[in-house]
Amino acid sequence: MNRTIVDGIHWVGYVDWNIRDFHGYVTDRGSTYNAYLIEDREPALIDTVKAPYAADLLRHVSERMNPADLRWVVCNHAEPDHSGSLPAVMAAAPHATLVCDAKCKGILEMYYDTSGWRFKIVQTGDTLSLGRRTLEFIETPMTHWPESMATWIPQDRLLFSMDAFGQHYATSGRFDDEVQESVLFFEAKTYVANILMLYSGPVTKAVAAVRRLDPALICPSHGVVWRRKVREMLDLYDQWDVCQPVRKVLVMYDTMWKSTEMMAQAIVEGALAEGGPAVDVKLFHVRATTGTRLATEMLDAAAFAAGSPTLNGTLMPAVADALTYLKGLRPARKAGFAFGSYGWGRGGPEEVEQFLQAMKVELLRPVLKLQYKPSAAGLEECREAGRLLARHALKVCPA
Ligand SMILES: Cc1cc2nc3c(=O)[nH]c(=O)nc-3n(C[C@H](O)[C@H](O)[C@H](O)COP(=O)(O)O)c2cc1C
Repeated sequence: MNRTIVDGIHWVGYVDWNIRDFHGYVTDRGSTYNAYLIEDREPALIDTVKAPYAADLLRHVSERMNPADLRWVVCNHAEPDHSGSLPAVMAAAPHATLVCDAKCKGILEMYYDTSGWRFKIVQTGDTLSLGRRTLEFIETPMTHWPESMATWIPQDRLLFSMDAFGQHYATSGRFDDEVQESVLFFEAKTYVANILMLYSGPVTKAVAAVRRLDPALICPSHGVVWRRKVREMLDLYDQWDVCQPVRKVLVMYDTMWKSTEMMAQAIVEGALAEGGPAVDVKLFHVRATTGTRLATEMLDAAAFAAGSPTLNGTLMPAVADALTYLKGLRPARKAGFAFGSYGWGRGGPEEVEQFLQAMKVELLRPVLKLQYKPSAAGLEECREAGRLLARHALKVCPA
């Protein structure tokens, strides 16, 4: 594996081929925790890896230099997948000073015993000369956590972007041109949807700042380094971070005895009759997919319908689970409606609508509820409702 990013800067992270559940994010393709070593008069390590892989990180550093000679350790983000090996690194590098912003120091103190660590607190605009290279620090609060920071090397026009521009994607290639492009962009989009969607404002600001820097290389803390597709990726971020809709509608549901499923299928038929093939229509049984996938699809959907039958006076747990996750991610610019079958009282469909209201979804119609098995007229009502979804997608995404 080629670990040299540019002459004197090396990837020293860990490829986690087998992780499939990253704090609930389903990582079908594994992940990487990226750390980078800068060889210079004052050598610096940029970030670390998850705690169990500290020995791998130190072994990678040792292949280049004695870790005890590290002068600086930069922590761009306190989350444990990047800071978890700091205790091992700081123990192995007794002359190193930890560089981070003030908020980061506060968080690190809550996670680790930092009493023996020397800190250098930096803020936006501060610089640190390593010798041939200079580090410039840019605070990027709420591009994931409040202390998120990026580090810029003007000599190489290289940005250590932290979680921004990352992908949960385990690969032997370390660069964007060494992996399959469609998979790379899919994983980058999945990452935005599941990690960054709710931080739209700060991410938009950060992307604009990155454009002004005009980086030649972007080294995120997960996945591959961007060097050939930087511009393409920034253009996609401009769309993703505002949840720019495309001509796509989603229908998601759960069911016990198939009545809500019949409704979902009729909604899909209506959407296709109105919008197909210009509108991409996708159907998801929430227990046959994952919240991770739904969030990715939701990022650029124009409209959606969410359905649940009434179970014990409420909605089905898997629908509540999916909608709770989506609500937290705050997808913007969505329209839709709630639907579902019931037996004798209020519950599932109404509570789905409450979720949609909490998500500030533009409601295209009142909740669509049918009693027990849908009649022919009921299914026709579902088809009409499906047409509303497609019509909305065509309206907000003109050709
Ligand atoms: C275990 C169970 C609990 C139910 N609880 C309620 C309820 O509390 N209120 C209600 O109106 N209907 C209730 N129903 C009836 C269903 O909502 C009704 O059969 C509906 O058509 C199911 O839709 P589905 O075929 O999509 O699962 C219940 C059904 C089952 C199987």
